[in-house]
Amino acid sequence: MGVKGKIAVIGLGYVGLPLACLCAKKGFEVAGLELDREKVELVNSGQSPIKDSYVEENLPKVGGKISATPDAGQALKAAGIAIVCVPTPAVDDKPDLSFVKLACKTLAPFISRGELVVIESTVYPGTTAEVLRPILERGSGLKAGKDFFLGHCPERIDPGNKKFSIENIPRVLACLSKEGSEKAKKFYESIVDAKIELLSSIESAEAVKVVENTFRDVNIAFVNELAKSFDRMGIDLSEVIKGASTKPFGYMPFYPGPGVGGHCIAQDPYYLIASAKKAGFEHSFLKLAREINESMPAYVVKLAEETLKELGIGVNGAKICLLGLSYKPGIDDTRESPALKIAELLKAKGAVLKMFDPFVANKSNASSLDEAVKGVDLVVLATHHKKLFKKLTATYLKSKGVKAVVDARNVLNGPDIKSKGIVYKGIGK
Ligand SMILES: NC(=O)c1ccc[n+]([C@@H]2O[C@H](COP(=O)([O-])OP(=O)(O)OC[C@H]3O[C@@H](n4cnc5c(N)ncnc54)[C@H](O)[C@@H]3O)[C@@H](O)[C@H]2O)c1
Repeated sequence: MGVKGKIAVIGLGYVGLPLACLCAKKGFEVAGLELDREKVELVNSGQSPIKDSYVEENLPKVGGKISATPDAGQALKAAGIAIVCVPTPAVDDKPDLSFVKLACKTLAPFISRGELVVIESTVYPGTTAEVLRPILERGSGLKAGKDFFLGHCPERIDPGNKKFSIENIPRVLACLSKEGSEKAKKFYESIVDAKIELLSSIESAEAVKVVENTFRDVNIAFVNELAKSFDRMGIDLSEVIKGASTKPFGYMPFYPGPGVGGHCIAQDPYYLIASAKKAGFEHSFLKLAREINESMPAYVVKLAEETLKELGIGVNGAKICLLGLSYKPGIDDTRESPALKIAELLKAKGAVLKMFDPFVANKSNASSLDEAVKGVDLVVLATHHKKLFKKLTATYLKSKGVKAVVDARNVLNGPDIKSKGIVYKGIGK
């Protein structure tokens, strides 16, 4: 396939890098603007700076077509399309738009007439038109929707998901003008093998993303609250969820756990809460969901305390092994990870902590599962990496001298573990 034109991707992280690979795979010349020089060097040498199976598989194949650079001019000049994929965190539960504003300020002087600018970073409704548009227009001297095209196409990537990758997840998008929307749709249709749904406004496209992630947050909060009440009532929530899942309509299973992590689900509800508040509406339900999910690491620590108490051991001085540090299985991303909050709380209570995650070497203080588990009083499983929990059989735990287990993901065989005389506690069971 011949080279189709230049795409500039701003921010080569979990979103920007798969996108850069996909565009290169589809024959575009890709320039990545990235401030982190280590990432730039790795990408330019065809190595993935992140643990992402799509990037690991594709970057070595298309590496030659992606040039990463911290130099704005080099990356952004003469691009037909510029796509912004920088972080949009929440700080003190409030949206922090500083990265996306800076990215737009950097991009603006290089925008040319007819260029398509797409914001893929997650933002609250109104951000693109009210906050970013003026920055882009001021810096470029051009009018959005007339001289250049501006739109929002939220990224839905799910790192670690083997079935749905950036190549086949349907997308929604909207631009300021009809012409822009058509142009953007054509572009995404040329790279994505799934439906591209045009929405009537950028605000709707922005809202789609925050609503999708808030939907997950509130449903997870619902089952987490059930876990707390069913623990008291002595009902096995896992069995209840399994039972409810036999209903072929009107029910969708969500599972309790140690809380919600990652750059999206733990943050995006704050974007929706803040934008509604600006419009004069208080989202009490969404705030409560956040509160419940944020309370879960402390709940896991409470379960750990109770479990140790059964053995006559206090947390202070107890040898505890925390397994799984990323926020979800199969990846190395620890942003907002509940496991790290559990670690902080246990340390503050004086536990002697061994931590291990096969994907997160830089935060593990044990170099193998065997080393982490050996001779501890309690194992807390916070993240259910297959590599980990498949090995955590009753026989294995017994052979390592483990006395108790808190399974914060309900993935271990509790009855088997108990049968070996090990105290076992799941979450909501
Ligand atoms: N991670 C996900 O699963 C996911 C999924 C969907 C949407 N999103 C959204 O996508 C956006 C990006 O998230 P991410 O997970 O890829 O973040 P990330 O931190 O992995 O990557 C962002 C990259 O942008 C770089 N960067 C920051 N400011 C820059 C600037 N001014 N110029 C150039 N580079 C800059 C950072 O160095 C980093 O490498 C966020 O808005 C996020 O909410 C993330």
